[in-house]
Amino acid sequence: MAKLIIISNRLPIKIEEKEGKLAYKPSEGGLATGLGSIYKQNDNLWIGWPGMVVEEKEKKQQIVEDLHRENMHPVFLTNTEIKEFYEGFSNETLWPTFHYFSQYAIYDQKLWETYVSVNQKYCDVIMEMAEPNDTIWVHDYQLLLLPSMLREQLPNATIGFFLHIPFPSYEVFRLLPWRKEILEGMLGSDLVGFHTYDDMRHFLSAVNRIVGYGSMHGWINVGSRSLLVDSFPMGIDYEKYSSIAVSEEVQKREKIYRYNLQEQKIMLSIDRLDYSKGIPNRLHAFEKFLEKYPEFHEKVTLVMLVVPSRDSVGKYKQLKEEVDELVGRINGKYSRITWNPIQYFYRSYPLETLSAFYRMADVALVTPMRDGMNLVCKEYIASKHDQKGVLILSEMAGASKELSEALLINPNDISQYVEALHAALTMPEEEQMVYMSHMQDTLKRYNIHHWVSIYMDRLSYVKLKQMSMATSYLDEATFQEMSNAYQEASTRLFFLEYDGGLKEYKGDPALAKPDQELYELLENLSSNPKNRVVVVSSREKDNLEEWLGELNVDLIAEHGVWIKQRDKGWKTMLSLINNWKTDIRLILDLYVDRTPGSFIEEKDYSLVWHYRKVETGLGELRARELVNHLNFLSTNSNLQVLDGQMAVEIKAQEVNKGRAATHWLNIYSPEFVLAVGDDWGDEDVFKAMPSHAYTIKIGNSSSVAKYHLDTCEQTRRLLKRLVAQKKTEKRQKIQGSL
Ligand code: UDP
Ligand code: G6P
Repeated sequence: MAKLIIISNRLPIKIEEKEGKLAYKPSEGGLATGLGSIYKQNDNLWIGWPGMVVEEKEKKQQIVEDLHRENMHPVFLTNTEIKEFYEGFSNETLWPTFHYFSQYAIYDQKLWETYVSVNQKYCDVIMEMAEPNDTIWVHDYQLLLLPSMLREQLPNATIGFFLHIPFPSYEVFRLLPWRKEILEGMLGSDLVGFHTYDDMRHFLSAVNRIVGYGSMHGWINVGSRSLLVDSFPMGIDYEKYSSIAVSEEVQKREKIYRYNLQEQKIMLSIDRLDYSKGIPNRLHAFEKFLEKYPEFHEKVTLVMLVVPSRDSVGKYKQLKEEVDELVGRINGKYSRITWNPIQYFYRSYPLETLSAFYRMADVALVTPMRDGMNLVCKEYIASKHDQKGVLILSEMAGASKELSEALLINPNDISQYVEALHAALTMPEEEQMVYMSHMQDTLKRYNIHHWVSIYMDRLSYVKLKQMSMATSYLDEATFQEMSNAYQEASTRLFFLEYDGGLKEYKGDPALAKPDQELYELLENLSSNPKNRVVVVSSREKDNLEEWLGELNVDLIAEHGVWIKQRDKGWKTMLSLINNWKTDIRLILDLYVDRTPGSFIEEKDYSLVWHYRKVETGLGELRARELVNHLNFLSTNSNLQVLDGQMAVEIKAQEVNKGRAATHWLNIYSPEFVLAVGDDWGDEDVFKAMPSHAYTIKIGNSSSVAKYHLDTCEQTRRLLKRLVAQKKTEKRQKIQGSL
């Protein structure tokens, strides 16, 4: 069975060796905790580094076996690789650059070379483990080159990529000497995912300026392959965090901590020790708060859980010293015998401890200088069963795009920060509960399962679209096959689009009259009693009648509003109003799922998807996508899509060319069907065709048609060659009767 292979630098567990024995512990960090909840389903596999250097063969073997039971497979890194790939290029070049700390970045060719070779190492391991049809999902900045390395070996594989950290603006990204190679690496995937629309926008702009590929609604063409770039804000396992918060163990721990902290109001922060997390700014703000609001002395405690991280990297070591010093100074200045303003813990904690603190905290401080998403703030919200508590959240965290009910601050603005601390501590409980319940509703819906399924649906959609776009050029071999099918069939139906299919466009539509050659062609084609020819058009019926009414052909006019069978008069299809709302609502629901803040309004004759409350830019993007989606995906939609003010309205348009074409298909059940078209309206015709039909798109833009040709001239040539079969048939008949 096809499986999902997740690849990240770090596995969701890390190995430590104690007294010669291997111990397995959960890894910290949003990627590991977030995806940790879902990877074990089915036969999924997670490939990554187990966090320790292992040299002995037997030990490696034991680790492989142990991890195998947990659906994981290790990639072992050497000491040099850890130094140059993990600490070096990943965390001293990419991490600072992507978090807008480019002054911390080092540019070293040796580190880059090791980064390339370790990405290749991951690729080699995947090649050993992957089977055809597996979906490969690569995660995060340590493996930016992996998608294209995989693509080279597996040209048709389904490859997703997700970046868990911010993607910086072009002006910052361009500082990297290897910027082009990095982008090309990412472009090997089919779907590039980011947490926010801003990250996605920055990426598209960098691709455009550095590699020269433009994009349309997030689609980029790399050679003949199209890939999609989109944003997917990552959620948490809401149920897990919510239910553990009411477990006995957590309540027991809460009691102990509460006893020690007495009646203090608790402000909580939990982060890895990382300069992107804004820990010094938080301490400065807290110090200023104590200075400005002495009435809170002995009444509030800042509980700071800081998880050791990348402590062999220089900047992290310096940060540790800075934080230690700041905490010491503030506590030294304000502590009393019975009160320490800051309780600072430098270690990692089990989930039960974190949950107890989340429950107790009156205020959570999640105030990074930059953060791709930040899951801690979401875990805090999920743990608040009584809905009492205030979240102070940095605008620079991806999560701020979804959690607009938090107290949003700019962490560089210390005086705003101080006032937010005061506002949070004095906010009435009813107000806290209103905000908290809104945020809980959002997070319940956009949880981790939702995130994975939306991403995976998009990835499948990209593959489908790639397939449909691989509309192949109608070559001689296909023509011969078509010609044989034509000859063998005793009933044949042709749907031929007039403008753009049979006749080249003219500036003035009135000038695109049928020429002599076209008349002869249509006459020849329709004079064969086995053939039925339908000319399809968006032109008015009177116009078609005037130009083609004399011929022995059927007509579809005005996008399918009017139809005419050659032996009958014109008939309107307007009575075919159908119940379209149920299907369209499913599509709109998908867009609501993918677009926090959007909603659906149902009117008597229309459905409206509103996006006025959506993150600026994202709403517009999704609206364009939705319009495309409806035009492109919905079978026989017979709808009119209006792109309005912060809303997309879908109205019944009663009929379309595809529905009109179905009318003939139902009557004749032809053995041979050929449909030629060139624009969006003709897509409905293609979609309505039976599977044995030959569908031809004129022009090579995306289409559900099976084949394409470049010009009307080629359509005519093709039809002429088919008509020539008529003579062959006639001769065969004569010879047969002789
Ligand atoms: N975390 C943990 N143990 C700790 C402290 C934190 O497992 O002692 C988890 C925390 O629950 C959260 C993750 O580490 O799920 C941090 O993710 P976030 O997205 O907030 O930040 P990141 O570390 O990925 O930058
Ligand atoms: C962030 C990154 C992850 C990383 C984690 C912990 O969440 O996005 O890719 O694994 O931090 O960092 P570490 O260096 O310990 O793997």
